[in-house]
Amino acid sequence: MSNYHIKHLEEYYQVYRKSVREPENFWEEIAEEHFIWSKKWDKVLEWDFSKPEVKWFKGAKLNITENCIDRHLATRGDKTAILFEPNDPNEPAENITYKQLHIRVNQFANVLKENGIKKGDRVCIYVPMIPELAISVLACARIGAIHSVVFAGFSSTALSTRINDSDCKMVITADGSFRGKKTIDLKGIVDEALESCTCVENVLVVKRINSDIHMKEGRDKWLQPLLDKASTECKAEIMDAEDPLFILYTSGSTGMPKGMVHTTAGYMVYTAYTFKNAFQYRENDVYWCTADIGWITGHSYIVYGPLANGATTVLFEGVPSYPDFGRFWDIVEKHKINQFYTAPTAIRALAKQGTELVDKYDLSSLKVLGSVGEPINEEAWHWYNDNVGKKKSPIIDSWWQTETGGIMITPIPYVTPTKPTYATLPFIGIQPALMDENGDELKGNQVEGRLCIKFPWPSIARTIWGNHQRYKETYFSAFDNMYFTGDGALRDEVGYYRITGRVDDVIIVSGHNLGTAPIEDSINEHPAVAESAIVGFPHDVKGSALYGYVILKDAGESRNHDNLRKEINQIITEHIGPIAKLDKIQFSDGLPKTRSGKIMRRILRKIASNEMDNLGDTSTLLNPEVVQNIIDNRL
Ligand code: PRX
Repeated sequence: MSNYHIKHLEEYYQVYRKSVREPENFWEEIAEEHFIWSKKWDKVLEWDFSKPEVKWFKGAKLNITENCIDRHLATRGDKTAILFEPNDPNEPAENITYKQLHIRVNQFANVLKENGIKKGDRVCIYVPMIPELAISVLACARIGAIHSVVFAGFSSTALSTRINDSDCKMVITADGSFRGKKTIDLKGIVDEALESCTCVENVLVVKRINSDIHMKEGRDKWLQPLLDKASTECKAEIMDAEDPLFILYTSGSTGMPKGMVHTTAGYMVYTAYTFKNAFQYRENDVYWCTADIGWITGHSYIVYGPLANGATTVLFEGVPSYPDFGRFWDIVEKHKINQFYTAPTAIRALAKQGTELVDKYDLSSLKVLGSVGEPINEEAWHWYNDNVGKKKSPIIDSWWQTETGGIMITPIPYVTPTKPTYATLPFIGIQPALMDENGDELKGNQVEGRLCIKFPWPSIARTIWGNHQRYKETYFSAFDNMYFTGDGALRDEVGYYRITGRVDDVIIVSGHNLGTAPIEDSINEHPAVAESAIVGFPHDVKGSALYGYVILKDAGESRNHDNLRKEINQIITEHIGPIAKLDKIQFSDGLPKTRSGKIMRRILRKIASNEMDNLGDTSTLLNPEVVQNIIDNRL
C-alpha cells in the first residue's frame, strides 16, 4: 500500500495531511495491512493528555516477536536478520538468519521460563553488543516478560538503582566485554550491584571473554549449557496491545532516572513504519545503526524496527577507533552497508582524523546517512555529507527521544530536501507545536520556542515505571494538553524545524543525556565537598562537556586540588559511569544564588562557555560578589 512507503515530497504532504486529519483511520490502515494480530483492536485510539493516558489499538492481541521473526520465516527464512561484526576485525562476522534467530530466541525464551520468568516479570539485561543482547530482548518479548536493558557501560551503582526501581527478578549478563583493546569485567560489576538488590533470584551469564569469574552458587548460571538443552519451540505469549514491552531508563533533570515504559502494539507499528520511511529501507538492503542496544536508538532501530520489516540489521560490538579510526568505513565496505545511522559525536571524532582513512575504503554502497542524539553542527554535517556520503547520500538528521519511542522530526531521504543542522519536517502523524513562555502557541513560521507535541503518536511512552505522577509533571504540566519535550526549537521560513537544545537541566554529552542533579549529588558525597553545580560548555567532539563548580567545606583545604579532582571524578564514575566525568572542576568560594536560594546556572553556564560579556543582570543575586571571583578563577 502506498501509504507505507513514501516516495516523493508531494506524497509526503498528502500522507502527512491524512495522518493528522484522520489519525485513527491512517494508523488503522497501516496496522491492518502490515502486521499480524491474534485479535484486532476494538478502538484505534483513546487518549487524554490531562490524565495523562494514551491507548492505541485498544483490545488488540499480538506478540511482537511473531511480527519480527515468525512471519518472515516463509519468505525470508534464509535471509540474514542480524549480522554480527565482532570487536576484533579478525574474528569472523556472524550471519544469523531469520530461521536461526527464531530458534535462538525460542531456546532463550524457554530458558527464561525454566528459570521462573513469567509474563509481566521484569528482567534486567546488562549485556554488551553481542547477539545474545538482541536475542535476550526478543526472548523476553516472546514470553511477555518486560525487559529493562541497562547500557553495559553504566556503573554498579547505576545498575543496582535501575534493578531495584523496577524490581527485576533476573539479570542477564556476560562474563565480560571487549571494547577496543580493553576488556571490561561486567560480571564483577553485576556482583557488586547485586549486593544491594534483594529482588534478583537468578543471573544468567553469557560467556564472551572467557575470563575467570566468580559464580554464586544457586544464583548464577552459565547460559550456554541451558540453551543447549532447551527446546527450539516456544509458543509466543499473546499480549494485549497496551501490555508493557520494556522499560528503559533515561536521566531527568532531577532525582532518580526515569523508567520510561513502552507498550506493545503502538511501539511496534510506529518503529516499523518510521524505519521503513526514514531510512527508505528496501528489501535486501544492509542497514547499520552504530548505537548500543542499551539506548532507545538501539531498541527501536537495531532490534524492533528493522526486524519488523524483515531487514538485515548489523550489530557491532566494537568502537570506532579500534583497531584504528577507519573501522566504521572498513565495516561499511566489508558488509556493503546501504543505510548508516550514527551520532554527531562519532562524526566529530572521526572528522578530527582527517579524510585519509575515510578515503581508503569503498563507501559506494551507502544510500542514506543518519544522525541522532544531539544537534549536529554545521561543520560535522558537511564533513559527513562530503566525505562519507560524497554529496550523494542524503543525511537524515532525526530528532526524537527515549520517551517518543521513534523518530519524530526528520527528512525522508530522497523525499525531503535536506538543510544542514535542520531536522526539517515532522514525520507522518506528528503534530509539533512551538510554545512561548506564557504558554501560547507560536503560529506561523520564523518563530522559536519550546517544542511540544499536540497529539499522541503510537509509540509515546505511556508512563514512568512506578511513578505516573512524575510522568504527568515532567511531560504534561508545562503546557496544557501538550506533551513537552524539554527541547527548544525554531521553525524557519519554510516550516523546517531546527532543534536548538535542551531547555532544562539535562546536558547531552557525546549524545548521552545527563541530569545535573544526580551528578551533583554524587560530588557532594565527597567528604571535602560542601556544594557543587554542574553546567555544560561547548566541546569540539562531545558537543557539550561538563564543567563543575565545587565549594569545599574547608575553603583553606590544604590537599592538592588535582588529587581532589581525580577523587571527585572517581566518585562520579562509581555512581553513574565514566560518561558523566567532569572535564573541568573549578574550586570556588561560592555559587551565584537567587534570593530564594536557587543556583543561577545561567551565569555559571556563560562563564564556563567564556561568554563573560553577556552575563545579564547580576545585581539581583543574593551574593553578586561571587561572580567576579568565579570569573577570575575560571579554568
Ligand atoms: O535534546 C534532544 C536530543 O536528545 C534528547 C533525547 O535523548 P535520548 O532520550 O537519549 O534519545 C536520544 C536518541 C533518540 C532530545 O531531547 N536529540 C536527539 N536527537 C536530536 C537531538 N537534538 C538535536 N537534533 C537531533 N537530531
